[in-house]
Amino acid sequence: MILTGAKEQLFTTEIRQQLDEWVAKYPAGQSQSAVIPCLHILQAESEGWLPESVMDALAEYLGMPAISVYEVATFYTMFDLKPVGKHKFNVCTNISCMLNGSEQVVEHLESRLNVKLGETTDDGEITLREVECLGACCGAPMMQVDRDYHEYLTVDKLDAILDGIKS
Ligand code: FES
Repeated sequence: MILTGAKEQLFTTEIRQQLDEWVAKYPAGQSQSAVIPCLHILQAESEGWLPESVMDALAEYLGMPAISVYEVATFYTMFDLKPVGKHKFNVCTNISCMLNGSEQVVEHLESRLNVKLGETTDDGEITLREVECLGACCGAPMMQVDRDYHEYLTVDKLDAILDGIKS
């Protein structure tokens, strides 16, 4: 529970402390500049995704229109607007990764996880997604697992990553 329900105290004390640390990094009156790190904090506290009520509360907290928070949250693939698995597998299928075998990466993960792109495993552990270039083209094919990048992917590497998550 990260929302208090009280308008004057939108978030719990612990969450407010984290948000305020970021707001303090910007000049007075520029609280909205902290929207991205604040969304990261709130997403981490909301089981990996951002309910509308949380984005609305952040808009009020930062003194910005809710639509502006939605614009940021919907633009970046690092933010999720619906429930996701405990771990997020973001496979890049853009040009460098495509030319270096991202299709095989996707096929292997779909087969091992028994899901299609955009789906979450039955146990709620892993959400598999296709994303645009993640800026690590020299390590193609690559994917991001939560906050970590994995490059030069092979079937063996994928199996090791999956086994590591299971254990
Ligand atoms: S094309 Fe995959 S990281 Fe750039």
